[in-house]
Formats: sequence, C-alpha cells, structure tokens
Amino acid sequence: MTSGLTNIAILGSTGSIGCSTLDVVRACGDRLNVIGLTGHSNLELLARQATEFAPAVVVVSDDQRRSQFQLPSDAATAVLAGQDGIVDLVTRDDVDVVVSAIVGSAGLRGTWAAIDAGKTIALANKETLVMAGPQVMQLAGDRGVSVLPVDSEHSAIFQAMQGGRPSEVERIILTASGGPFRNHSLDQLADVTVQEALAHPTWEMGPKITVDSATMMNKALEIIEARWLFGLSIDKIDVVVHPQSIVHSMVEFCDGSVLAQMSPPDMKLPIQYALSYPRRWQGTAQRLDLTRAFECEFIPPDYERFPALLLGREVAERGGSCGAVLNAANESAVAGFLDGRLKFTQIVSACRDVLNNHDYDPNPDLEQLIGLDRWAREEILRWKP
Ligand SMILES: NC(=O)c1ccc[n+]([C@@H]2O[C@H](COP(=O)([O-])OP(=O)(O)OC[C@H]3O[C@@H](n4cnc5c(N)ncnc54)[C@H](OP(=O)(O)O)[C@@H]3O)[C@@H](O)[C@H]2O)c1
Repeated sequence: MTSGLTNIAILGSTGSIGCSTLDVVRACGDRLNVIGLTGHSNLELLARQATEFAPAVVVVSDDQRRSQFQLPSDAATAVLAGQDGIVDLVTRDDVDVVVSAIVGSAGLRGTWAAIDAGKTIALANKETLVMAGPQVMQLAGDRGVSVLPVDSEHSAIFQAMQGGRPSEVERIILTASGGPFRNHSLDQLADVTVQEALAHPTWEMGPKITVDSATMMNKALEIIEARWLFGLSIDKIDVVVHPQSIVHSMVEFCDGSVLAQMSPPDMKLPIQYALSYPRRWQGTAQRLDLTRAFECEFIPPDYERFPALLLGREVAERGGSCGAVLNAANESAVAGFLDGRLKFTQIVSACRDVLNNHDYDPNPDLEQLIGLDRWAREEILRWKP
C-alpha cells in the first residue's frame, strides 16, 4: 500500500460484483487504485473499463477470445490471457487486495494464487470456500492472509462479530430473502420458467446466483462458506427467511444479545467494507430511510419445499470432498436449467443424486478437488430423473 492508496485487482470486473466494485472505486477514487481487471466474454465492457481506469494489466480469461480484444495503440495497459494471465496479475508486487468476483469454480485458481502470494482477499466468489474451504483457510493462515467477506450475509456476520469475542458467539443466523418462489407450493415450483427464476425480488445479480437464490442453493452454499470462513460447527449456523433483505444477518452471543447489520440491499456496501476494513469510509451505498414505515419479517425456512438447505447443512457437516461435488453439480445443473435440459426442481434432485453417488474422501488435495469438479459436471450431463 503506497501513500494511503490501496492497489486492487478485480477478478471478474465485467460481472455484477465487478461493476459494483468499480462504482465503489469511482466513489472512493482517492483511496483505491485499480492495477488489474479481468473479463471472460464481455470484451466490449472490459475495453471500456480499461479505458476509464487505465490499469497496468487487463486479462481476457477466455484464451480463445484474446485475439478479439483491442485497446487503443497508445494504451499503457498490458493485455494477458487465460488462467495464467490471472495468476500473473494477482501475484504482482504492486497488488495489495484481490477482489475475487469470478462466478463459479473458475474463481478458485486465481484466489488460491493470490492467497499463496500473501494478498488480502475481498471474497465474493463463495464457490472457493464451498469447494476447498479447509484448504483455502489453512493456506490463508499459513501466509497470514485476511480473507474478508463480500457476500452481504458474511459481511454482516463479520461486522456483528466485532461486538464480542469469538468464544462468546452462540450462533450465527444467516438471513435469506427466500427468492421469488418463497410462497410457491411444491406443484408450482415444478413448473417454474427460466424467466421467472431470473426475476429476483430484492437483489440484482448475475444469472447463476439468481437461480441459486430461487432454489435456495445460494443459502446452502452460504452455510458452507460460513462454516469455513468463521470456523463454526454446523449446530451454530441457522437460517431465517427475511423477505425485505434489510437485515443482512445476525450473531447471537452467549448472553442472549443478537447483533444485526442493517442497510438497504446494495452490494456496494459490503464490497466497500471489505476494501476499507478495519476502517469505514463515506460511500455512495443507499441509506436506510427510517422516516417511512417498513416491515421486517423473519420466517423459519421450509426444508420440504427448499431441500437445497438440507444439502447445505449436510455438506457443511461432512466436509471433505462433498463441497466440490455439490458446487460443481449445482453449477452444471443450473446451466442445464438455463438451457432447458432440466426442470427447476430437478436442479436440487440431480445434485442430491450426484452427491450420494460420489466416493467420499475426507481429506482431498487441490488436484483431487478439481478432478471431482469435472466428474460431478459430467454426472449431471448423464443424470436422468
Ligand atoms: N451479484 C451479487 O450480488 C453477489 C452477491 C454475493 C456474492 N456473489 C458472488 O460473486 C461471484 C460473482 O457473481 P456475479 O453475480 O457478479 O456474477 P456475474 O455477473 O455472472 O459475473 C461473473 C464474472 O465472472 C467472469 N467469468 C465467467 N466465467 C468465467 C470463467 N470461466 N473464467 C473467468 N472468469 C469468468 C465474467 O466475465 P464475462 O461477464 O466477461 O463473461 C464476469 O466478470 C459469484 O461467486 C457469486 O456467488 C454475488
């Protein structure tokens, strides 16, 4: 960090979190300096971002598309490609913080390389911890690296935890919006269309996490993420449905006090907190308006209609190879739903079957996890109801 400026690399700058991170940079430009950006398919947006922020490096993570990417000939930005380009970016000496905002298991390698190189991580890519939570947190501990949550729920818990000591935490309570089908019956869920699943009531997000939110697999992945990020056993992790998405999560301490973090749903706030931590900055995130009446409901989750939550609890408890298998099965099943091969309710049924059929390994290494990721995707392609 030089002259009070934090140098950041944004992996997945063309996505929803990536664009919100650049909004935070626009609002806090005297504190943040963009060293590198990466995009995969949206090269037009990547080029516009490169022109505006003039980073030292831009990475086109899809090797095949590198030749389609052009910057003006006088641009001082180096253009790299592929996963190797991402690794070159995150290991640069001048990068302080890596914002990990690629979607899915494709985010693991860059995040791992950044931790290995001692960089602070602002982690949006929850799949990194779902796939390889114990290995990633062990590496972060060995390298003295902070993994700071960007997920709004985990950011809320991280903030509320500062109200007590880790040993005083009784349980954490993850809030869930419940998605667009919160009140659907099982029969109605069977007929959900792609268009309906992509219309989230409170959050604007990329397509994969929006579908995950509708199945509540997103909350399942967050249970697993919380288990490893905060080092909590599953009996200390609860979920409550809170449709307004104002309370982003809560921590209950041993004396019965519950500390909650509240704000309107706006990802710029948790992104900014991960970048400003341990301080707070003025920012542009929306403010809570308490001059108008609003409701805050808390409803117990329905495990029968949303069985993904049970998968999340089971995988968080068993650990080992389960996270990588569930994550890959889900990514592949969501892709199958989006292109019309699977029905909405089959996403979770297919994940359940693939998880049950895998050879459990209590202590896989990174290569084995990547192999399991490939296997689970292929199993989903072969899956029949
Ligand atoms: N959106 C939210 O509000 C939110 C909240 C909490 C956590 N998260 C987490 O943040 C992560 C990003 O979510 P998002 O909603 O921002 O997703 P998104 O809008 O779909 O953006 C994904 C980003 O990853 C890039 N990408 C896609 N496939 C890639 C690959 N194979 N290799 C390298 N880069 C690839 C995309 O590039 P192109 O667009 O150029 O193809 C884009 O920059 C996810 O892990 C999600 O769970 C998101």
